[in-house]
Amino acid sequence: MEEEVATAIGTPNIALVKYWGRRDSALNLPTNSSISMTMDETLCTKTSVAFSKNLPEDIFYLNGEIQDFRHGTEKTMKVKRALDEMRKFAGIRAKAMIVSKNFFPTGGGIASSASGGATLTFALSKALGLNLKAKELSIVARQVSGSASRSVLGGIVKWNRGKKRDGSDSYAEQVFDKSYWPDLIDIVCMISGEKKKVSSSEGHDLAPTSILYKARIPYAEKAVERAITAIRQRDLNALAEIVMRDSNNMHATMLDSWPPIIYMTDLGKEIMAKIHELNAAEGEMVAGYTHDAGPNTQIITIKSNRNKVMSALKEVKGIKDIITVNQGDGPRLLSARDSLITPDLVPKG
Ligand code: PMV
Repeated sequence: MEEEVATAIGTPNIALVKYWGRRDSALNLPTNSSISMTMDETLCTKTSVAFSKNLPEDIFYLNGEIQDFRHGTEKTMKVKRALDEMRKFAGIRAKAMIVSKNFFPTGGGIASSASGGATLTFALSKALGLNLKAKELSIVARQVSGSASRSVLGGIVKWNRGKKRDGSDSYAEQVFDKSYWPDLIDIVCMISGEKKKVSSSEGHDLAPTSILYKARIPYAEKAVERAITAIRQRDLNALAEIVMRDSNNMHATMLDSWPPIIYMTDLGKEIMAKIHELNAAEGEMVAGYTHDAGPNTQIITIKSNRNKVMSALKEVKGIKDIITVNQGDGPRLLSARDSLITPDLVPKG
């Protein structure tokens, strides 16, 4: 492909206070604000993009498989939406070739939509030569996947829920650079790589059927502010409790939806119990677990507590892999050598 290829790398984030439920499903507008930690490149997505007048239509390869834009899934349609938004910004009509790959050590099971959505948005903007602000990138990434709005930035990131119907005030902002509390880490426990039965998108839409959900909305909004205070004070004892309670509250809301949704596994519950045991033995919160819309458990702690957490986890049988991640910087450009657009993928003619 002769046209300029932009290749970017980006990473997932782990929500410390979670986004669950939307006021607009098409635009991914949340009912509550959320806060997360962007991961370093231990787990990452790489995405190459090139726009060309010679392409008859948009082409999208994800993890080696071509995606169908015409009869696509909800997620594919959201990628298309981001693509159209970016074309609008650039004032062009050229079609795009997108090749994206997730590099997650044990494969599957970790939310790739945040990493994928943010990396794609960043790569699209660079391929078009646009110098967009984080706010604009976040608004576009949000439309691919809500949690992707937070992965366009590094360190600790807050996604303001916003109130406007068009979503122009619903975007993420960095609260703390990764250097503010570099000791804060995430220990990812891989439990299962199986595809979840209920997508997060379906889950968000079921949230209003829960009786507990109404109470969650104002609670989560306050929990975000309390998490910011705890991080500002580098107070793990306070932060770990906020993180665990918010995860449990979200999973209680999921179970209370109708039909009920259960993402957590028995192994996840065993890890929860182990962390409570560890914290009780230490006389303070030295770690906090959290579960997203999937089976894997993530543990928020600080570097000096890592060995204690690892010893506790050793007593839980069945965890497939344990990966420690630091805070990351958000997406960045890679060099031309890293392009994933290989000649065999480009249509002839
Ligand atoms: O971005 P989505 O639609 O995959 O939703 C993600 C929801 C959670 O991961 C459960 C919470 C969050 O804030 O990341």
